[in-house]
Amino acid sequence: MNLPAPIRWEDGRLWLLDQRRLPDQVTFEEQHDASQIARAIRNLHVRGAPAIGVAAAYGMAMAWRDRVDLQDAARELREARPTAVNLAWAVDRMLAAATRQEDLIDEARCIHEEDRAMCEAIGRHGAKLIKPGSSLLTHCNAGALAVSHLGTATAPMYVAHEAGVRFHVYVDETRPVLQGSRLTSWELSQAGIDHTLICDSVAAHLMADGAVDLVIVGADRVTANGDTVNKIGTRALAIVAHYHDVPFYVACPSSTFDPTTAAGSDVAIEERPAAEVTDGIPAVTGVKVRNPAFDVTPAELVTAYVTERGVTGDIGDGLRRKSGCEP
Ligand code: MRU
Repeated sequence: MNLPAPIRWEDGRLWLLDQRRLPDQVTFEEQHDASQIARAIRNLHVRGAPAIGVAAAYGMAMAWRDRVDLQDAARELREARPTAVNLAWAVDRMLAAATRQEDLIDEARCIHEEDRAMCEAIGRHGAKLIKPGSSLLTHCNAGALAVSHLGTATAPMYVAHEAGVRFHVYVDETRPVLQGSRLTSWELSQAGIDHTLICDSVAAHLMADGAVDLVIVGADRVTANGDTVNKIGTRALAIVAHYHDVPFYVACPSSTFDPTTAAGSDVAIEERPAAEVTDGIPAVTGVKVRNPAFDVTPAELVTAYVTERGVTGDIGDGLRRKSGCEP
């Protein structure tokens, strides 16, 4: 299967696939230090919760190698985007490795490698949810571009596809930055998975027709009570799925679970520039714009979480984090 790798570490140099230019251009840009990586995270050059964690880990490794103050690098990287817990999780893990006087390049590579392994495990567990002939719906891009390997929400799709299961995926375009139409659709095309692009507001109509068997999305953070913070529009999709009795699955690695935050209402929701909403769109000049990047789906609307440990409604399974590279 032809899957894009958004982060490359080669001979001590870091390259990030510039996701702002996809699908028109596939360009990798070398990153030289933690500040440049923080900028790349802030402006969506690299995006998706696990991927920004991995990129930040390499940023910390470069700061350590170049003898830059690690606390300064950590602050800059952590502040780049506030919502996805994987970013702070990766930075904290790098700081802990520094305290133990470990090699931070090795630790960053370890986080990157773990991410790949988690995607494969999520794919193996989640593939069982995809029955032959079924129709899925996904939102945003929780695919290979957002992670290190198979993605999270897309991992079950890739594993099922490889096993010869035939199914169909509806892809929400995901306004305003169009991660669905630009990224997920591109990824699924490369992998040869049958899919149809829809506007974000189409899901309810399709579900009323019985055209959707299950929804799978990713997550930027799952709080202690199971609330799921993900791309804006996820909450509406979960409410609509609940109304139509369509199962709603959240696929994410254990690094996305945040046991220290009680509920979704405690999470800082990133507000992004108005230009993302208005650029290229006819709008009244000077009109007020709100552009929250994420929303909170209440735990009771989630059928189950698909993690590297299995498919479970018990978030305790997801909360038991691993540490250190798997053998
Ligand atoms: O703003 P983005 O593109 O970084 O938002 C990404 C999402 O919301 C994804 O669903 C989430 O990070 C999970 S990625 C495996």
